[in-house]
Amino acid sequence: MSNAPLIDNHGRLVNYLRLAVTDRCNLRCFYCMPAKGVRFLKNVELLSLAEQKRMLLIMKQLGVHKIRITGGEPFVYTHIEALFDFIASEIQPQTLHLTTNGVLTGKFLPKFKDWGLKSVNLSLDSTNTATFEQMSRRNDFASVWQTLMQLLDMGIALKLNAVITAGVNDAELIPLALLARDYPLDVRFIEEMPFNGVGAREQSLWWDYKRLKNTLNEALGELTPLPAEPNATAVRFAVEGFKGNIGIIAAFSRTFCGSCNRLRVTANGTLKTCLYDDGVLSVRDLLRQYSDDEIIAQKIRAAVSRRAKDGFEAEKNRLTNPKISESMTLIGG
Ligand code: GTP
Ligand code: 5AD
Ligand code: SF4
Repeated sequence: MSNAPLIDNHGRLVNYLRLAVTDRCNLRCFYCMPAKGVRFLKNVELLSLAEQKRMLLIMKQLGVHKIRITGGEPFVYTHIEALFDFIASEIQPQTLHLTTNGVLTGKFLPKFKDWGLKSVNLSLDSTNTATFEQMSRRNDFASVWQTLMQLLDMGIALKLNAVITAGVNDAELIPLALLARDYPLDVRFIEEMPFNGVGAREQSLWWDYKRLKNTLNEALGELTPLPAEPNATAVRFAVEGFKGNIGIIAAFSRTFCGSCNRLRVTANGTLKTCLYDDGVLSVRDLLRQYSDDEIIAQKIRAAVSRRAKDGFEAEKNRLTNPKISESMTLIGG
C-alpha cells in the first residue's frame, strides 16, 4: 500500500481522524438531540469492533497520526476498552485524544495513562445542577464535576467545551469562563451548529464568535490573543490572573477551514471529509465488500482528492440530505 501522505485537492495535509465509536448517548443535550432522542442505529448498521480496527489500520497506512475518539458518548460503547487497548498496542498514533461528556468516565480513568491519552475534551455547559439538567435533560452534573476534578488531579490536559444557547444557559457564560481562572484548563465556547436532530431553529445564531468575545472582554478584562496552534479550531486567549485560557470555536462561522486536517468516520462508518458534508463514502460498505485493504485505501484517497474547500462549499454540495438536520451524536462533533 502506498505510504504517501494524504494531501487534498487544496494542498492541505490530512492526518487527523475523528472516530465516532457509537451514536448512543446517556444525555440529551438539546443542541444535539430532541428530548425523545433520535432514531439510534441498529447494530448491523454500526461499524463492529473488528471493522473499526481494520479501518484504523488502513488510516494508519494513509498517514493519519492524530486520533480523537468521540461518540455519541464513547463510554456507552460496549467495546470501548478493547478499542483503546488496540489503539494503544497496534496503532500507536502520535497523539490520541478523547471527547466525552464525563458522566460515565470515572471508572475508566485509571486506564487513561496506559492508553496514552494526551488530552481530554469534556463537554460542560453549566457550572450548576439546575442549568446542567435544563441543557442535558439529565441530572448528572455531580458525576461530570467529579470527572473534571479527577482529570485535573491526574495532570491530563483538559479542555471544557461549552455551547451557550440563547435563552437557556446565557447566564453560565461568565461562571464557565471563570473556571479557567481557578483551574489550569482551557474553557472553549463553541458557536451552536444546526446538528441537533431537528434542523435549524428559528432564531439566527445569537452567541456568535463576536458576541462571545465582546461579552467575555467586558466581564473578564482584556483577552490577550495567544499564537494560533497548527490546524486549530479554537482561537485562544490568555486573561491576566487566570491559570488556564479561554477559547472560542467559530464552528458555525467556519473561519478555520483553510487549515483543516480532519477526516471523520461516523458511527455507521461513513467517511466525512468535512463536518458539513452529508458523507462522501461508506467505509463500512467497503469493509464488508472487499477483503483487500488497498482497494479501500484508494477509495479514501480519491475522496480526499475531491474535498470541499470549506464548510460552506461542503454544505452546498449536500445531496441526500440538503438541509442539515442530523444529530451530532452520529457524527461526533
Ligand atoms: P482539539 O482542537 O484537538 O482540542 O479538538 P477539537 O476542538 O476539534 O475537538 P472537540 O471534539 O472538542 O470539538 C470541539 C468543537 O469543535 C465541536 O463542537 C466540534 O463540532 C467543533 N469542530 C471540530 N472540528 C471541526 C471542524 O472541522 N469544523 C467545524 N465547523 N467545527 C469543528
Ligand atoms: N453545535 C455546536 N457544538 C455541538 N456539540 C454537540 N452538538 C453541537 C452543536 N449542535 C459539541 C459538544 C461536544 C462537541 C464534540 O461537540 O459540546 O463537546
Ligand atoms: Fe450531549 Fe454530546 Fe451526548 Fe450530544 S453526544 S447529547 S452533545 S453529550
